[in-house]
Amino acid sequence: MRGRSGGAANTLEGMADSPVRMRPEIAALPAYKQGRQAVADGYKLSSNENPFGPLVEIVEAVARAEVNRYPDATGPALRAKLGGRFGVTAQQVHLGAGSVALLSQFLLAVCEPGSEVVYAWRSFEAYPGLVTVAGGTSVQVPLTAEARHDLDAMAAAVTDRTRAVIVCSPNNPTGPSVGAAEFERFMSRVPSDVLVLLDEAYVEFVRDADAVDGSRLIGRWPNLVMLRTFSKAWGLAGLRLGYAIGPEHILDAARAVAVPLSVTGQAQLAGLVALDHEDLLLARVADIVETRTRLVDGLRDLGFAVPDAQGNFVWLPLGERTAAADDVFHDHGVVVRAFPGDGLRISIGERESVEHVLKAAAAL
Ligand SMILES: Cc1ncc(COP(=O)(O)O)c(C=O)c1O
Repeated sequence: MRGRSGGAANTLEGMADSPVRMRPEIAALPAYKQGRQAVADGYKLSSNENPFGPLVEIVEAVARAEVNRYPDATGPALRAKLGGRFGVTAQQVHLGAGSVALLSQFLLAVCEPGSEVVYAWRSFEAYPGLVTVAGGTSVQVPLTAEARHDLDAMAAAVTDRTRAVIVCSPNNPTGPSVGAAEFERFMSRVPSDVLVLLDEAYVEFVRDADAVDGSRLIGRWPNLVMLRTFSKAWGLAGLRLGYAIGPEHILDAARAVAVPLSVTGQAQLAGLVALDHEDLLLARVADIVETRTRLVDGLRDLGFAVPDAQGNFVWLPLGERTAAADDVFHDHGVVVRAFPGDGLRISIGERESVEHVLKAAAAL
């Protein structure tokens, strides 16, 4: 094809070293690394996805969306419905294109150069990049020996430079939930002008009766925002839909920095239908939890030190053996997420994936 100028086709060859100046901290950021894609006839257990396909009703709702029209920007119907479920007003609910978009918005809203954001480490791999992009500095507080949040150390890490704390419960990728009582103690120690983001992406999979549940804490603190997603338990990862519940004034700041119109009409319709079929979807979650129990028991029987698993994934703390173990799983047709030097995360997938995972684990 000829270029518009009528000359030869343009090419980007030789432009690898473009002189355009970037923010140095952005140029230094590693690109977001997705989990490996599936292997043929294997199991993709690398992205904490839901193994169940969408309900017919959801497929139909998505097909009904008018894709030639822009979506209703703020999703009023879905916000009202979620508000009704959680006993808040629609203005106390904010939708995002996945909860990762919401995390980004809140951090952009509170950070300025020199701001610090405290979170546990290791935790969700997107946190460091989101903090940097927002112009903040990460303060990573090591997990305990049981791979749990150390909330006392996190509270102690808060300084007058801290603008936000992220608490991930259950923690991705290690699995344990934060306890309800320890979270309340933690909240009483964090100054009320520091935003606390309670990231509950996997809360529907929790079976620990002592775990924190953000929905019971709504209205308790003026600086607490709960983040949830339709990606995991609700099986809508590909449609990108998450929501935040918290004080209106904080949500307004996130709305102000949001990329307009990024929550699609399809996502909004699918979310509405999913909420109407909660019983069915939560039965699937129960199925996944049962599979989780079988996998955790099997791995522990093999001698692995698996931390408490409350999400739709399990953690194998393999340290330096991680990269080699990743290859063994891959050779067995099981795609997992490796964090070299630290451990492997295995998502809970199809029931029949368990025997393949255990076979690979036995081969390690
Ligand atoms: C802890 C945690 N928070 C948030 C997200 C973002 O999920 P989404 O953007 O699909 O809602 C993930 C996804 O893996 C996650 O693990």
